[in-house]
Amino acid sequence: MAREFGSVGVVGLGTMGAGIVEVFARSGLSVTAVEISDAALHRGESTMRGSLDRAVAKGKLSAEGRDALLERVTFAVGLDALGDVDLVIEAVPEHLDLKQRIFAELDKVCKPEAILATNTSSLSVTEISVATGRPNQVIGMHFFNPAPIMKLVEVVRTVVTSQDVVTDIEALCERLGKVDVTITDRAGFIANALLFGYLNQAVSMVEAKYATREDIDAAMKLGCGLPMGPLALMDLIGLDTAYEILDTMYRRGGRDRRHAPVPLIKQMVTAGLLGRKSGRGFYTYEKPGSPVVVADELTPSSTAEHGRPTNIAKVGVVGSGTMATGIIEVFAKAGFEVVSVTRGAEKSAKVCERLKTSLNKGVVRGKLTEQDRDAAIGRVTWSASLDHLSDVDLVVEAVVEELSVKKALFASLDEICKPGVVLATTTSSLPVIECAVATERPADVVGLHFFNPAPVMGLVEVVRTIRTSDATVQTAAAVCRALAKHAVVCADRSGFVVNALLFPYLNDAVKMVEASYSTADDIDYAMKLGCGYPMGPFELLDVVGLDVSLAIQRELYLELREPGFAPAPLLEHLVTAGYLGRKVSRGFRDYSKR
Ligand SMILES: NC(=O)c1ccc[n+]([C@@H]2O[C@H](COP(=O)([O-])OP(=O)(O)OC[C@H]3O[C@@H](n4cnc5c(N)ncnc54)[C@H](O)[C@@H]3O)[C@@H](O)[C@H]2O)c1
Repeated sequence: MAREFGSVGVVGLGTMGAGIVEVFARSGLSVTAVEISDAALHRGESTMRGSLDRAVAKGKLSAEGRDALLERVTFAVGLDALGDVDLVIEAVPEHLDLKQRIFAELDKVCKPEAILATNTSSLSVTEISVATGRPNQVIGMHFFNPAPIMKLVEVVRTVVTSQDVVTDIEALCERLGKVDVTITDRAGFIANALLFGYLNQAVSMVEAKYATREDIDAAMKLGCGLPMGPLALMDLIGLDTAYEILDTMYRRGGRDRRHAPVPLIKQMVTAGLLGRKSGRGFYTYEKPGSPVVVADELTPSSTAEHGRPTNIAKVGVVGSGTMATGIIEVFAKAGFEVVSVTRGAEKSAKVCERLKTSLNKGVVRGKLTEQDRDAAIGRVTWSASLDHLSDVDLVVEAVVEELSVKKALFASLDEICKPGVVLATTTSSLPVIECAVATERPADVVGLHFFNPAPVMGLVEVVRTIRTSDATVQTAAAVCRALAKHAVVCADRSGFVVNALLFPYLNDAVKMVEASYSTADDIDYAMKLGCGYPMGPFELLDVVGLDVSLAIQRELYLELREPGFAPAPLLEHLVTAGYLGRKVSRGFRDYSKR
């Protein structure tokens, strides 16, 4: 029988603590919430009240429910108030010496059978536990932000945590309506070990002015379906907390350079730009603690956001694969005249058939009228000769991902197309500049990286090389808007924004399974329930294809020479074994029996 917890204590009412108090009080437990000073207590209490009032305003909690919940909470200054509780969760700043001091004191104040838990994200639970005389009753309970919403709790057992304590805490998580994964004491546990390298890399993109904060966030939301972009997430976590987590992970986690905090983070912390809690971080907020972003000097002006490009009416699409077909559909539906060029009539017939099938699906689903469908089909002309591109205003190339083929194509386009035409490549991994210098007009060459399936995905990465002109970038971005796609402008580096941030994270997840730290199932859970990702990394790898993922990871590694980007050997072995993912019914999981 698991232990019944009647009362709990929470130490520290900051970003996490205030949410954790709410979680416990919502489940009917009495909570003693303590802070270091009256001012901090007052701040923590108002954060919590603000969150509850928002829940009431949204109809997620009744006013009576809120009042009853608040009645279960006692607010106090100092740890002495925790003498009677059955469990304490510590949520003070991420410093080992501070946490050790608090645990030593809790050990003196709390009754002997009380369990002491830390919400640390990256510090060693073992090192915290040895500050007490009861290390077997010390455990990690790592909640996710915002604690009342995120379902996951990582339960961290050390080598001395007693099994009874683990069982009791697992049962408590269930009572709280949370899903727990129980793991051992390693820097960053599951979710943060996979998350923070990605967050740090996103900050380095801002620091290098590789893309804007808005574009990086939009890219990850629209390209990967994430609930928040990485910079908005840094603001939610708090830059001071994020700095400490990265720093600890760097020191504890094998000195992986990807965890060495990007200098910009430290500068922002020093300047008091801590994120939402201080009202300003990567974004500016209405007031400290508010989730509402307000415009600041970095907000792009909306004047450039309108208008259809007047100089683009007719578009050439070269290629006959999945991407080319989707791109033809997108342009034709948006009212552009399209010239499709493939390598032969047979291929054109197939593309035409696939286009019709896709448009018909739109009609069946009520997204398109029959007239719209027929008009879209009527806008496309089919050809097997590049010569038919002599009068188009824009060419989008979506042929095979081989540099020699693309370069030869761009050289031909240079000869055939009229001056001033925008020449775009959809490459996902090759340098756009290589295509540009295959022509005599590199200023007119740009990357237009559509996502698959192009008619569905709302994002296009507009890749500017060091030779692309501003006018070309502006036209390309305006074309995306006319297609109702969100254009994100970035520099010509391997993986652009989305793949550069996504694939190292997927590769890290593979390394985590390879090191037997956790299982594919638990890691998928952790990312979905802890971070709100629509799919876990292994589900996504199986969908994308392990061979495709390996190829992208290799490109990133070869371009950036970052040791942490080296493809996971397990990924290479699975590809060698032919386990390529869903397309062959076997990847990280076996789909043949499902
Ligand atoms: N921010 C996140 O997204 C997140 C997510 C999961 C876990 N965590 C972890 O939770 C812990 C707290 O992080 P946070 O982001 O809530 O920090 P925070 O800075 O927002 O809050 C810390 C609170 O602790 C209080 N405090 C400091 N010393 C104290 C003491 N001696 N006694 C009582 N209270 C004291 C501070 O006044 C402050 O209110 C850290 O270990 C962090 O790694 C953070």
